[in-house]
Amino acid sequence: MKGVILAGGSGTRLHPLTRITNKHLLPIYDRPMVNWSIDALVGAGITELMLVTGGTHAGEFFRLLGNGHDHGIERLFYAYQDQTGGIAEALALAERFVERDKVCVMLADNVFASSLRPVVENFERQKRGARIVLSHVAEDEHLRHLGVAVREEGRVTRIVEKPAEPPSKHAVTGVYFYDEQVWDVVPTLKPSGRGELEITDVNNWYIERGEMEADEIEGFWGDAGESIDAYYEVNDFVRRNGANA
Ligand code: DAU
Repeated sequence: MKGVILAGGSGTRLHPLTRITNKHLLPIYDRPMVNWSIDALVGAGITELMLVTGGTHAGEFFRLLGNGHDHGIERLFYAYQDQTGGIAEALALAERFVERDKVCVMLADNVFASSLRPVVENFERQKRGARIVLSHVAEDEHLRHLGVAVREEGRVTRIVEKPAEPPSKHAVTGVYFYDEQVWDVVPTLKPSGRGELEITDVNNWYIERGEMEADEIEGFWGDAGESIDAYYEVNDFVRRNGANA
């Protein structure tokens, strides 16, 4: 399985910090944010990675990661996203890297307390389709900034992106698994209200075909790009407890 780490976007919710650097280079405890997602994938056994970034600070990722070997990466590729056209647009840049392999996509602002290894193993066993990772989030205020999954009889039947009225407490985290069908779906997407190609539309495509599985992950999960408060919440958690255990 290949891994794709998405570290583009404009990080407007963390302005002015992200006017002078890329969001994923900001510190989370003792290292840049992006290192935690690399650690998560490498720790789960995924060591062939592509990092997608953009903007004016892309060169800093070379300085930080080089060929990746110091970080446990066997082969590290880079792609440059010209505009912030959305998560699904960024993913499209990885098609020739992933080819017909299975892929795990991780948003570089996501941090998990627990190892992703069990979910990676679940997807390795899965014959076809896609898989998402859910996390229980109690507060509607958080859920309104996320994708939220509706579950019926254990199966995900729909995902609503940034719902004004969250339909459940199942937040969709920024870790996604796809088979090769994803490369046929992405070109069919239309920009959303915020002008982006949405990963939630890709996920709903798989749900409609009955080809989406889900795992609910235990323990802390944070999206450090959600707001400045979320950024500090993730920092505080990692400083006290570490991550990817
Ligand atoms: O963190 C989980 C959430 O991530 C999910 O619950 C949502 O369903 C999903 O849409 C996403 O929501 P966000 O609003 O947090 O996405 P954001 O625009 O912040 O982008 C997340 C990451 O994706 C960001 O850290 C870098 C990468 N990205 C984003 C865009 C828009 C790119 O690489 N390129 C892009 O053009």
